[in-house]
Amino acid sequence: METVLIRNGTIVTAAERYEADVYVDRGVISSIGPQSGRPADTVLDASGLLVLPGGIDAHTHLDMPLCDIASTDDFETGTIAAACGGTTTIIDFATQEAGQGLLPALDAWMARAEGKAVIDYAFHVAICEWNDRTASDMARLVQRDGVTSFKLFMAYPGRLMLDDASIFRVLLHARHIGALVSVHAENGGVIEVLVSEALRRGDVAPRFHALTRPAAAEREAVARAIALAEMASAPIYIVHVSCTGAVECIEQARERGLPVHGETCPHYLVLSDAEYERPGFEAAKYVMSPPLRSVADQDALWRATASRAIEVVATDHCPFGMDDPPHKRRGLDDFSKIPSGAPGIETRLMLLWDSGVRAGRISPNRFVDLTATAPAKIFGLWPRKGTIAVGTDADLVLWDPGAQTRLSASTHHMRVDYSLYEGRVVTGAPAAVLSRGEVVVRNGAYVGRRGRGQFLRRAPHAGRAARIDS
Ligand code: URP
Ligand code: ZN
Ligand code: ZN
Repeated sequence: METVLIRNGTIVTAAERYEADVYVDRGVISSIGPQSGRPADTVLDASGLLVLPGGIDAHTHLDMPLCDIASTDDFETGTIAAACGGTTTIIDFATQEAGQGLLPALDAWMARAEGKAVIDYAFHVAICEWNDRTASDMARLVQRDGVTSFKLFMAYPGRLMLDDASIFRVLLHARHIGALVSVHAENGGVIEVLVSEALRRGDVAPRFHALTRPAAAEREAVARAIALAEMASAPIYIVHVSCTGAVECIEQARERGLPVHGETCPHYLVLSDAEYERPGFEAAKYVMSPPLRSVADQDALWRATASRAIEVVATDHCPFGMDDPPHKRRGLDDFSKIPSGAPGIETRLMLLWDSGVRAGRISPNRFVDLTATAPAKIFGLWPRKGTIAVGTDADLVLWDPGAQTRLSASTHHMRVDYSLYEGRVVTGAPAAVLSRGEVVVRNGAYVGRRGRGQFLRRAPHAGRAARIDS
């Protein structure tokens, strides 16, 4: 497709809202303004629709190996589902294997994505041990591959967890090479003890997953991560923030001018720990880490998305089947064997619009910031991605603010046999989605091409060792 004209739409960016036509030439926005009569290969009428920058999901786990299984969406099915929900870029995680360097991790995940992804993609590299190759591999990934963010785990001992000294080493080096470090912040040691105590007592049901991962274990790890980053004079990004204590740590750090970024996910904003009271094994659907929290925590997260202590809403999409395949059933007699993770790559924008914008908690501009602009800026994709301007990639969503969708596993595109939101009706949905000027979703149906997604090299982290100004 060479040229596309989007007529009569209302453009919404993180900062502006105005009516204008958009002209796209070979995948890039070439003109914004009146284009009456201008010929184009494809003309889309956006009357009554908003034109938004395509969503950027900075936290996905597609085809993620876990022991002898893998998350059920691969890079084809997962990115199709993402596109259907209005997301045009994902940043997934390439995870180091123990005893290996970091470069083989990127190679392995590139092989998983290449030829499959239908939208553009990038990788954070997850470091699970500090060894004599780590520093040079990190520098190589930043300089050679444009992989400019790394992920560390303060949870999952024996598998992914790093000790404080290793975290500190990574932070020091990341600052030096212009990379951003993100952390899964839960105190893995405390959780390990609580889990073994629960199992010893015979408390094996799924709800004990939540009870053995208390909010205090998250707050402690967030505080520690921020302290380590401050000592290293490095920026830090806290993934999937779920509780008031963690929000308060981030707010206090930002008030002190520290470059601390917070991310949350739709499930923490719209669901609560009441889901763990579901009968039978149903609660296993909601086994994710951190777990769902209280309604008071939800309120704190909404306040933080409005006040900017939380800058990004991503999904942590990590689907495992309930029955087909029976991944979650592995934990029928032991909650600690339930694979942790839940689906969400398709529903992020719909849920955030419905519960955020429609409910009056955030403005449409803030919605764009949380879902596209802030992740683009933080992770080195700006200005190519994350906004609507001449010269940017034509990753666009024609958003119908009045469209209603009944969320269900029977209609979603995610390759997983359940929905966290079965039966919930949300208002606001993509009518059409363009990825680099190509229509990949039209009238809610996927019309893209397998393998058309491109790997994105990213810029070094702009805020390297900088303090936040506002
Ligand atoms: O439970 C979760 N979140 N699974 C995915 C891996 C992670 O911790 O982000
Ligand atoms: Zn995590
Ligand atoms: Zn995750």
